Amino acid sequence: MKKVGVLTGGGDCPGLNAVIRAVVRTSIQYNWEIIGIKNGWRGLVEGEMELLSDYSVSGILPKGGTIIGTSRTNPFKREGDIEKVLENIKKFGINALVAIGGDDTLSVALKLHTMGIPIVGVPKTIDNDLSCTEYTFGFDTAVSIVTEAIDRLHTTAESHHRVMVLEVMGRHAGWIATVSGIAGGADEILIPEEPFDIDEVCGHLKQRYDKGKKFSIIVVAEGAEPKHLGSLIFGSKEKDDFGHLRLGGVGHYIAKLIEERMNVETRVTVLGHVQRGGTPTAYDRVLATRFGVAAVELLKNERYGKMVALRGNKIVPVELEEAVSQSKKVDKELYDIAKIFFGR
Ligand code: F6P
Repeated sequence: MKKVGVLTGGGDCPGLNAVIRAVVRTSIQYNWEIIGIKNGWRGLVEGEMELLSDYSVSGILPKGGTIIGTSRTNPFKREGDIEKVLENIKKFGINALVAIGGDDTLSVALKLHTMGIPIVGVPKTIDNDLSCTEYTFGFDTAVSIVTEAIDRLHTTAESHHRVMVLEVMGRHAGWIATVSGIAGGADEILIPEEPFDIDEVCGHLKQRYDKGKKFSIIVVAEGAEPKHLGSLIFGSKEKDDFGHLRLGGVGHYIAKLIEERMNVETRVTVLGHVQRGGTPTAYDRVLATRFGVAAVELLKNERYGKMVALRGNKIVPVELEEAVSQSKKVDKELYDIAKIFFGR
């Protein structure tokens, strides 16, 4: 009998519980025991675990967040932590691990794999910036939330003849901004992949005004960079365990510049964690479920060091090493489609 540990690391994401449920249900078929490791890698450092049964995952499919908690703990950061991880794996009799997370969580999984720990990864992030998989679960839900926000901003923008700036998540890649911007008919989409020129943006807004469109919607990813500044705008100087500074503020920054240059009333909405909370869409529930089942099948076949991925409509195994080697940027082709509607 196998004892499998499952953990969720990094920012939470709609669909995490659907993966956990699928991992537990599939494992039960093989008579394996599933240990839920609490709060990501921190649970392995501190030895915080709970046994997951059929009963504990009942009813969690539509629930947002993660029933086992998450954290941004990096066990390779503090001296002695990785030894504690190895000790706890032994102490709790864990034979294999399922790590559900983004590039940070999965880069830890890769390191553990190279140290001989049997492990497989499941790609999670609302940002959709993990390589080797066409989609990560959570992304579709975030896009739906942002698209609804753009629709709602349209009616108030039009009524007040304002520019509305909507700041969305997307640290290294502007997938959420691009896809929801296309879906919601945004007039500007600013993403980390293409540093923006504020004069060009204002020039376009002016063209719209001259044509009689007295309002505009700008969607900006938190990691978008103004060309003239040449650096990211941060919400705080605090770094997490993986060295990431907290982003935020680019929306307010742009709004101020637009008001100064165009003398038009501008308002900012920062959607923040609303994009990550709540129930997953049907698409994310199904994708998360398929990923969870496929992860257990990889363990069954002892194919460790892999991540489950979506390619076409198939779930396939890819090398963890390849998946974490670089982040997946927005397709130039897709962004070019979005640009047709900017009119610049
Ligand atoms: O999940 C990834 C992400 O959504 C990033 O886009 C964002 O920078 C980050 O999470 C913020 O998360 P937290 O506030 O939990 O650190």
